[in-house]
Amino acid sequence: MLNDLQEIERLKKEENAIILAHNYQTSDIQEIADFVGDSLELCIKALEIEESDVVVFCGVDFMAETAAILNPCKKILIPDMGSKCPMAQMLHAEEIRKAKNRHPDAAVVLYVNSLAEAKAEADILCTSANAVQVVESLPHDKVLFGPDRNLAWYVSQRVNKTIIPIPEDGHCYVHKMFHLGDLHFLREEYPDAEILVHPECDREVQEAADHVLSTGGMIHHVAQSIQKTFIVGTELDMITRLRRENPDKTFIPALNEAICENMKLHTVEKVKNCLLNEEVVVQVDENIANRAKLAIKRMVEVSK
Ligand code: 13P
Ligand code: SF4
Repeated sequence: MLNDLQEIERLKKEENAIILAHNYQTSDIQEIADFVGDSLELCIKALEIEESDVVVFCGVDFMAETAAILNPCKKILIPDMGSKCPMAQMLHAEEIRKAKNRHPDAAVVLYVNSLAEAKAEADILCTSANAVQVVESLPHDKVLFGPDRNLAWYVSQRVNKTIIPIPEDGHCYVHKMFHLGDLHFLREEYPDAEILVHPECDREVQEAADHVLSTGGMIHHVAQSIQKTFIVGTELDMITRLRRENPDKTFIPALNEAICENMKLHTVEKVKNCLLNEEVVVQVDENIANRAKLAIKRMVEVSK
């Protein structure tokens, strides 16, 4: 009788499958994954999986949808279909069309944390790792940027362009949990530590940090830093990977409650079941997918 891990290995070979996981997945999912990364790295990986027929995507829906848009001929599975990013649900295609009518001279840059129907309305996508680079790459002086208002603010501080957030108050409920007072307290408690936060955090939290980085940016920063202690202001499981890859360094969560419940719906058992049954297939309407694909590919080109 095979245990879950052995069964997953057997099914992966049988189905010619690969497992991709976001940095916020639990340690047991990260351990069974063939590749763990941030949103941008996962998009790029999804373009490089020619040899696999099946992809099990351990992340939220927009990440799996992006893989499906880039690979219409492959079977993209998600272990729990309920794993949805609430921020992505905050901006629908209709609202973008209205904003475009109000600002016909503006480019539309959408965060990859968005619905497929919204991506289809974008000129180009971005992630938190490349948002500034993407906005800089455009000839436009005015940019409609959504759905994350905090990432829009982060970009507006680094480019000489007008950034208009759509919607007004798009946000991530996990990164909204971080407060300035907690950072001040931790700074006093650990004066030698460096504070790293994600650009989805509120403006004053970003301003109080030493570095504002995507999850992949945190991995690279810590790997090349001479610093020994880090206070980490993003989803709690980010620390799982940081600790595994940097056993000689210390990581202090800025907030133990910062858990993305939506990401945590995937379990090893559900990964096994989804490989076994191949029922939870991620599909995107062909017309929407074709338009969204252009915006995703433009982003990948700019990030090379
Ligand atoms: P990264 O692109 O930094 O991995 O972030 C994705 C995300 O959902 C953050 O909440
Ligand atoms: Fe969405 Fe926030 Fe979860 Fe990231 S952490 S997937 S933005 S809810």
